Amino acid sequence: MIKTYLFFTLIFIASFGATATSLKADDSIDDREAIVLPAPGRNLVLAEMRGFLEAVQAITAGLAENDLKAISGNARKVGMANARNVPAALMKKLPQQFRQLGAATHKQFDEISAEAREIGDRDVILKKLGNLMLNCTTCHSIYKLVPLKQGSK
Ligand code: HEC
Repeated sequence: MIKTYLFFTLIFIASFGATATSLKADDSIDDREAIVLPAPGRNLVLAEMRGFLEAVQAITAGLAENDLKAISGNARKVGMANARNVPAALMKKLPQQFRQLGAATHKQFDEISAEAREIGDRDVILKKLGNLMLNCTTCHSIYKLVPLKQGSK
């Protein structure tokens, strides 16, 4: 009995160890598609990303506090109107799927803003936020932003 128990414990430890090691090995390989951008463009995209995260934080806090006004205002800040600040030259450097996922994200923030302003159903907003965040996770799993080296074009 004890022997069987020990046997399975050892198997468990062995397989767990193997999983941990293989995860580490996989993590070190970043084979996401690289989008190479000059520093200003990359900074702009990353700043937009931080804006996205701030909006998600504010919307989550607003949901917890039932503050629909805060949800609507913060979602609007990263809605379509904000997306238009991206210069055309930068837009051209972004892959089509990236642009589509980005636009969908801005649009869905607008939808959350409208829901909070007009109807204000927290369950609906939470569901929309969950869906919206699939854009974040999908895009992050596909692309990485690589800075253009100075001197190369
Ligand atoms: C259209 C693609 C796309 C979408 C949609 C997207 N991201 Fe990103 N995000 C990226 C890429 C690419 C990076 C850079 C990752 C890298 O180079 O490793 C990034 C980086 C970030 C960063 C790091 C910013 C920094 O200063 O380094 C944050 C935070 C972030 N995203 C949050 C979000 C959140 C939150 C959402 C959803 C509301 C989101 N992103 C949606 C593509 C996207």
